[in-house]
Amino acid sequence: MEKEQILDFTRRISQSNRSGLTVINYEIIFAYLDDAKKAYQEAQKYGKVNKIASSEDKTFSYIPDCSDLPISPDADYVYICENNTIYGTKYKKLPNTKGKTLVADVSSCFLSEPVNVSDYGIIYGGVQKNIGPAGMVISIVRDDLITDDVLPGTPTMMKFKTHADAGSLYNTPNCYCIYMCGKVFKWLKKMGGLEVMKQRNEEKAKLLYDFLDQSKLFKGTVVPEDRSLMNVPFITGNADLDAKFVKESKEAGLENLKGHRTVGGMRASIYNAMPKEGVEALVAFMKKFEEENL
Ligand SMILES: Cc1ncc(COP(=O)(O)O)c(C=O)c1O
Repeated sequence: MEKEQILDFTRRISQSNRSGLTVINYEIIFAYLDDAKKAYQEAQKYGKVNKIASSEDKTFSYIPDCSDLPISPDADYVYICENNTIYGTKYKKLPNTKGKTLVADVSSCFLSEPVNVSDYGIIYGGVQKNIGPAGMVISIVRDDLITDDVLPGTPTMMKFKTHADAGSLYNTPNCYCIYMCGKVFKWLKKMGGLEVMKQRNEEKAKLLYDFLDQSKLFKGTVVPEDRSLMNVPFITGNADLDAKFVKESKEAGLENLKGHRTVGGMRASIYNAMPKEGVEALVAFMKKFEEENL
């Protein structure tokens, strides 16, 4: 069974990148910046793209209401970036797509909690956050979307059908990465599966968000109801103090806390592999920094 599941995953591995979607008339939910924005820009090369929701008005700090979106009847699909790696927002409820196919980039929340795969037409994501080494994308594609009915001129390599028909061996696959992903799938099963990962991730994120919510120095930037379990951005409100925090936290052995270059501040990425002790160490350091700098 385990082997079959892994084979099924690898069968669905597509080397097309996140912009290689073969559709015309593409409707995009532009709910937050960067990953969705890049997909939005790229898709415009291939068809009509409508931005139908955005939280740009408040620096992408929340998920817009997606219960009644202006989805045009001839749209082929609705696109979301489900967990925004940069701004730390997450769709807790999927948008009402009014019957249209939902396509989701889940790069930064892949396997962080159970998902109902049948709610989506395509789930895809880079493996580099929660699953394996950088350099590969896993795509889970509904059978009826694995088709030859693609835009004229679509390169053979960019068709899901090419990869599905060839058992993901159309080209030479990234064997090392697949092997490492297999190891992580086994680890996840040994840990108790995605229900357990969800509990672990909620517990870790709560430690950090609870600290932020009572802190007099630090502030989380996302509204509580849309907070990501994986990426936790925070600020002091003073750019010099933020820079001091980044520098001193690094000296204390805490890595990669600098916010994304486009937004500044700080960001703790607490992916599946981060143990609770790592978050506890961060919170302890933040407490000390607050005492010294308030
Ligand atoms: C949600 C999301 N999508 C896409 C990407 C881009 O992945 P890559 O750098 O492998 O193209 C990232 C990278 O951080 C991401 O977080």
